[in-house]
Amino acid sequence: MSPRNEHFSLPAGAVRPRRLRTTPAMRRLVAQHRLHPADLVLPMFVKEGIDAPVPLSSMPGVVQHTLDSLVAAAIEAVEAGVGGLMLFGVPVQRDETGSGAIDPDGILNVALRRVRDAVGDSTVLMSDLCLDEFTSHGHCGVLDEQGRVDNDATLELYAEMAVAQAHSGAHVVGPSGMMDGQVAVIRAALDEAGFADVGILAYAAKYASAAFGPFREAVESTLQGDRAAYQQDPANRTEAMRELTLDLNEGADMVMVKPALPYLDILSDAAELADVPVAAYQVSGEMAMIEAAAANGWIDRDRMVMESLTSIKRAGAQIILTYYAVEVARRLQLR
Ligand code: PBG
Repeated sequence: MSPRNEHFSLPAGAVRPRRLRTTPAMRRLVAQHRLHPADLVLPMFVKEGIDAPVPLSSMPGVVQHTLDSLVAAAIEAVEAGVGGLMLFGVPVQRDETGSGAIDPDGILNVALRRVRDAVGDSTVLMSDLCLDEFTSHGHCGVLDEQGRVDNDATLELYAEMAVAQAHSGAHVVGPSGMMDGQVAVIRAALDEAGFADVGILAYAAKYASAAFGPFREAVESTLQGDRAAYQQDPANRTEAMRELTLDLNEGADMVMVKPALPYLDILSDAAELADVPVAAYQVSGEMAMIEAAAANGWIDRDRMVMESLTSIKRAGAQIILTYYAVEVARRLQLR
């Protein structure tokens, strides 16, 4: 119901919404949503066996880190006030079952230990929990005889991977493989191994998106084909709430929608339904689109960065994973 009384209407011209837009100070006062450095989580890539960071052509400013540069960048991010870090590993060796994901000496687990040693509890250290960087075929799970991703066999490996990451210092694990039942299996494994306090950020609604393209360069993905048999169909909205409900019932501590900008309707639905913090991932292709358009002089890069993140927040994300986390955190602190 509208709070207005229909019998008292102001004269024509007296209602002027533009009054609240007159000055920067006025606009700041009435801004309904604002970004804060602590909302932002920085995704980071660490590559095994390199001795200098490798820039990524499709994501200006983003690199594959060495272990040392990763630690330095993690410390910088913490100093900039970001809310958390999300680590991805790029191993040298890959095999059918992605064994490097579970090996305590695997690049991601080593990196987690190094970063946790350096930052302690001063930020929230998260790790991607998925096999795609570690498998020779690039799928998020192990394959059956027909070459399809075997859901339940994959779950067993996710359970081990979760425990390995918790041992290595992750505060939160982020299962991103879209296997059915992954949250429940990971929760049980963590609890059984004595990691009841390690949280799960569930990629609840993850779509089979073209916007992951640059990420696949970043992790040197070997994937042929696509992930449409496990990630969601972009045509589906209701299904996302089914996935979200399952993850909540299985014990997810936080849930994520991914990608972000093309899926703000999903994010808004999720924010309404979930009783846990909702995150959104501004993925590599979203960044690449901004950068490419800006490089052509077609859009104002800095404004587009802030507008895209503000829109993601307005749609309902409490936490935003973005490659712009440090840059934006610094900009916010200057204001
Ligand atoms: C899977 C994973 C992907 C991303 C995050 N976790 C790739 C995929 O599902 O193919 C994409 C992130 C991005 O594009 O920035 N481990």
